[in-house]
Amino acid sequence: MRTDLMHGLKALLILGALLAAPGGFAAGAAGPGATDWQKWTAGNKVTDIPSLQRGAAHFVNYCSGCHSLKYVRWSRLGEDLRIPEGELRKSLMPAGTKPASYVISSMPRADAEGWFGIVPPDLSLIVRARSVDYVYRFLKTFYVDPAKPLTGVDNLTLPGTAMPHVLSDLEGLKLAAFRSVGGEGGAPVKQFVKFETIAPGRLNAEQYDAFVRDLVNFLDYASEPAQAARRSLGIWVVLFLLVFTGISWFLYKEYWKDVH
Ligand code: HEC
Repeated sequence: MRTDLMHGLKALLILGALLAAPGGFAAGAAGPGATDWQKWTAGNKVTDIPSLQRGAAHFVNYCSGCHSLKYVRWSRLGEDLRIPEGELRKSLMPAGTKPASYVISSMPRADAEGWFGIVPPDLSLIVRARSVDYVYRFLKTFYVDPAKPLTGVDNLTLPGTAMPHVLSDLEGLKLAAFRSVGGEGGAPVKQFVKFETIAPGRLNAEQYDAFVRDLVNFLDYASEPAQAARRSLGIWVVLFLLVFTGISWFLYKEYWKDVH
């Protein structure tokens, strides 16, 4: 009976630890010269509130002109990210929106279609649809391609993308070097070799990396707003169980000490 209880507690402890485990592991070298871009990981933490706050500001400044988060309300965002309503209204919400409104881009669909040939997708669930590492790589693998008349850039993660490199003033501009290798049936295939920076941006490589990490962290949160709260609850569950296990142990000692 008692061992059953201890086993149960142990299982709960493990479960709690799993719930509390951070979202990912830090990325390795992800500099502009790195060729292993398919292995880059975001290494973001949805429990890192200051990072989420920065990410929300980045989203508002650089993405919300084209993309919405149609399942996220401003009020909920403010609560989860611990941004007071005054601050939320002043620095994030577009003038004239109510806290109960959803985060909706001001760009009319028809205009978007005319400009890009495609409506920029809603990003509420993008991390669940594609993964946080995918979005991180997407934002780090834009390169200059004069053959793209509309945007002047292409992307390794989403080749042929219609999205312009909206972060180029921060990251700078880079070229991608490719080599031809024999593919199946002898037809040459373009294989990526390396990036080469041709114009620096306002941020250096580490700063840009941190910027993108905060941004995808925010999108990770947006795709499942409950997870930030659930993860921090996990820590309390573990603490409670530890204390509870300690108390049980002392009681057990206390009850049985006279028997021996
Ligand atoms: C000027 C308009 C514009 C801005 C600003 C913009 N995007 Fe986009 N975005 C697009 C368009 C257009 C697409 C559709 C691209 C496609 O499918 O080729 C897109 C697609 C995407 C996708 C989906 C990629 C996929 O695999 O389907 C992601 C993720 C994304 N954008 C993230 C962002 C983030 C993050 C920001 C802010 C840093 C941002 N976008 C800013 C226009 C924009």
